[in-house]
Amino acid sequence: MCSGLIDSLFLLLLYFSIHHSASLSTYLNISMHSVNMKHILKWSQLQTACSTFNHTVQFQGEYELHKLNGSWVDAYDCQEIRENRCDLTHDLASNSDYSIRIKTNCDGQKSWTQLPKTFNRKDTVLLTPEMIVNVEGDPIQVGFNTTLSAITVKLKVWTEGDEQNALTDMTRAYPYHFSIAAHRGKEKMCFRAEALVDAINKSCSTDTQCVIMHKQTSDMPVIVSVAVVIALAVAFILGWSVTRFSPQIKHIICHREPIPSALLNNCPARAPNLFTVSSEPTEPLLVLVPTLVQMETNER
Ligand SMILES: *[C@@H]1O[C@H](CO)[C@@H](O)[C@H](O)[C@H]1NC(C)=O
Ligand SMILES: *[C@@H]1O[C@H](CO)[C@@H](O)[C@H](O)[C@H]1NC(C)=O
Ligand SMILES: *[C@@H]1O[C@H](CO)[C@@H](O)[C@H](O)[C@H]1NC(C)=O
Ligand SMILES: *[C@@H]1O[C@H](CO)[C@@H](O)[C@H](O)[C@H]1NC(C)=O
Ligand SMILES: *[C@@H]1O[C@H](CO)[C@@H](O)[C@H](O)[C@H]1NC(C)=O
Repeated sequence: MCSGLIDSLFLLLLYFSIHHSASLSTYLNISMHSVNMKHILKWSQLQTACSTFNHTVQFQGEYELHKLNGSWVDAYDCQEIRENRCDLTHDLASNSDYSIRIKTNCDGQKSWTQLPKTFNRKDTVLLTPEMIVNVEGDPIQVGFNTTLSAITVKLKVWTEGDEQNALTDMTRAYPYHFSIAAHRGKEKMCFRAEALVDAINKSCSTDTQCVIMHKQTSDMPVIVSVAVVIALAVAFILGWSVTRFSPQIKHIICHREPIPSALLNNCPARAPNLFTVSSEPTEPLLVLVPTLVQMETNER
C-alpha cells in the first residue's frame, strides 16, 4: 500500500519534472538564419527565471546519425554560452541534413530544444553580388562586392543586342576581379556575372549592366569647355574687382618681374585709362589684358 503511494508520488514528481523541462524548452523559439553560407542559429530569450543559466548547441549530421550511433557533436564556439545566437558556419561543413538542438542548463536543470526541421547548408540564401563596372580606363575594370567566399565568378560580356556572341571569362581567385579590353564605339557593352558557390553547386546571377563606352578622346572637349568657363569666370571676377578696388588690385598685379627696358621702349606710352576701359563691364575679358599692360608701362 505504502510503497504503492510512494511509487505514484515518484511518478507524479517525475511527470512534473519532465513537464517542467518540456515547458522550459518551449520558450526557446529556435530558427536558423543562413545567408551567403553563413549559418547563424538564433533563439529567443529564456523566459524562465534562473539564477544561473547557459546554453550548449549540438548538432548531428547524417554521418553522426548513421555511423556514430546517433551521437551529437558540441558546436565549437557555443558551449555553455549565455548569448542567444550561435555561429555554426564552420560546424556544418558538409551538404548533410543536420539536426540541431540546444541544451539549456537552468540552475542545474537541463532541458533540450530542437530545431523543428533539419538544416542543410544547400538551403542558404544567396544574395546577388554587387557588380561594379568601371569604364573610365582601358582596360575596363569589373569588380564585385559580396560576402560570398570560395566562389567561381563567370563574367559574360557582349555588345548590346548580340548576346549570342558573348565572351565569357571566369575566376576563382578572390577578390574576383576582371580586366577587359574596351571596344569603344557607339554601341553599349553589356555585362552580367554568375556567382557559383562550388561547395553547394548553387549560383546566382547579377542583373545585366549595359554601359556606353565613350571614346576616351571625347573627354577632351568637356575638359576644354570647363577650362573656358573657369577662365571666363575668373576674368569676370577680376574685371569686376578692378572696377571696385582698383588701387589695391593695381598694387597686387604690379608686383612682378620688372619688364626689360627694351620692351618698355617698344611699347608706346598711352594715357592711363584703367577706369574708363574697365568701366565697360560687359566685356571685361577682352579689355582686361591690354589694360594691365598699359597700366604697367604707364607706371614706369
Ligand atoms: C520565432 O522566430 C521567428 C523567426 O525569428 C519569428 O518569425 C516568429 O515570430 C517567432 N515566434 C514566436 C512565437 O516568437
Ligand atoms: C555503435 O554501437 C555499437 C553497438 O552498440 C558498437 O559496437 C559500436 O562500437 C558503436 N560505434 C561507435 C562509433 O560508437
Ligand atoms: C552553466 O550553468 C550551470 C548550471 O546552471 C553551471 O553549473 C555552469 O558553471 C555554467 N557554466 C558556465 C560556463 O557558466
Ligand atoms: C560593399 O557593400 C557594403 C554593404 O552593402 C557597403 O557598405 C560597401 O560600401 C560596399 N563596398 C564597395 C566597395 O562598394
Ligand atoms: C550542379 O548543378 C547543375 C544544375 O544546376 C547540374 O547540371 C550539375 O550536374 C550539378 N553538378 C554537380 C557536381 O552536382
